[in-house]
Amino acid sequence: MGQRTILEVMQGATVTPPPIWVMRQAGRYLPEYRETRARAKNFLDFCYTPDLAVEATLQPIRRYGFDAAILFSDILVIPDALDRNVSFVQGEGPRMRPLEGDEIEKLDSSRVLDHLAPVFETVRRLRVALPDETALLGFCGAPWTVATYMIAGHGTPDQAPSRLMLYREPARLEKLLDILAEASARYLIAQIDAGADAVKIFDSWAGVLDRVAFERCSVAPVRKIIETVKRERPGTPVIAFPKGAGWQYRDYREKTGADMIALDWTVPLDVAAQLQKEGPVQGNLDPLRVVAGRAAIKEGVDRILDALAGGPFVFNLGHGITPQADPDDMAYLVDCVRGKA
Ligand code: CP3
Repeated sequence: MGQRTILEVMQGATVTPPPIWVMRQAGRYLPEYRETRARAKNFLDFCYTPDLAVEATLQPIRRYGFDAAILFSDILVIPDALDRNVSFVQGEGPRMRPLEGDEIEKLDSSRVLDHLAPVFETVRRLRVALPDETALLGFCGAPWTVATYMIAGHGTPDQAPSRLMLYREPARLEKLLDILAEASARYLIAQIDAGADAVKIFDSWAGVLDRVAFERCSVAPVRKIIETVKRERPGTPVIAFPKGAGWQYRDYREKTGADMIALDWTVPLDVAAQLQKEGPVQGNLDPLRVVAGRAAIKEGVDRILDALAGGPFVFNLGHGITPQADPDDMAYLVDCVRGKA
């Protein structure tokens, strides 16, 4: 464990060159991923088949030697485990029946961990299959982000259905966030028990909330998850990603208790350096720089390293890699970060 230097960074160490992994590192930009994906009946089946999920997780590690592997799964396995019948329509994204009326009060979380048993099996197999020096990250979605899909029934550009519920029926939304926070904490603890070295909470839609709503819907439930994880599995680092939080990044670490804060690409590097004085940060290259090619990669990486590599830092993108990225350019990115290009 001592040799997984990325975990030391999460606890405040400065490591040179900084460790690197990439959000959505297992994905459609890799030909070997597309081949594995074609062997699954559908996307959730892919996530629930340990042979396939282990293979997809390992592919980017084999290719690039990243310092961390992230469990191949999805944040929407939680609503699926709450019986919301999630499906992924090719080219359209996730779908489920939108929550209506009193359905929130009737959600049954008693079978969540049983439903997700194949995910824990994947984690166990991964910890055995991965190189010793590669950390294994577990993850979940933040309650707000997961709730937005459950309320709308699909992805939306601005989360209007959930923001409307917040203003019209705040108690009902808070009940949903509570159920999700409790289920997500249990889910992360089970991943840790199966072998995850650290966990990450993705709040991909934190950026649509005003200050009051951000406190209530993003910060409070994430803090609840982190409190539970820290109480029951002390010592496991927690990364949190409030994408698009803007000014609200300022006191996010202090308010949630996260060990490492993941920055999206809109966070200015001088602000990132300020945030880093309070603790480790991760980020934040615009994923489209990888699509744009080598000059854009080199320029972006150098700026980020200049600003952040002198402190506790993990290199990453500011959001997931897109399917249009060239796998060879990703190799170039890794070389730039490791001082080999
Ligand atoms: O490599 C990894 O990062 C691990 C696996 C992972 C996936 N999704 C696989 C996936 C992780 C950590 C996620 C997180 C996730 N899922 C988030 C939070 C991070 C973010 O990107 O903001 C969100 C919002 C989701 C929900 C989700 N899953 C959407 C909206 C979609 C459809 C859009 C798309 O990119 O296709 C997915 C599908 C999905 N999850 C894919 C992958 C590799 C693509 C599905 C496919 O292969 O057909």
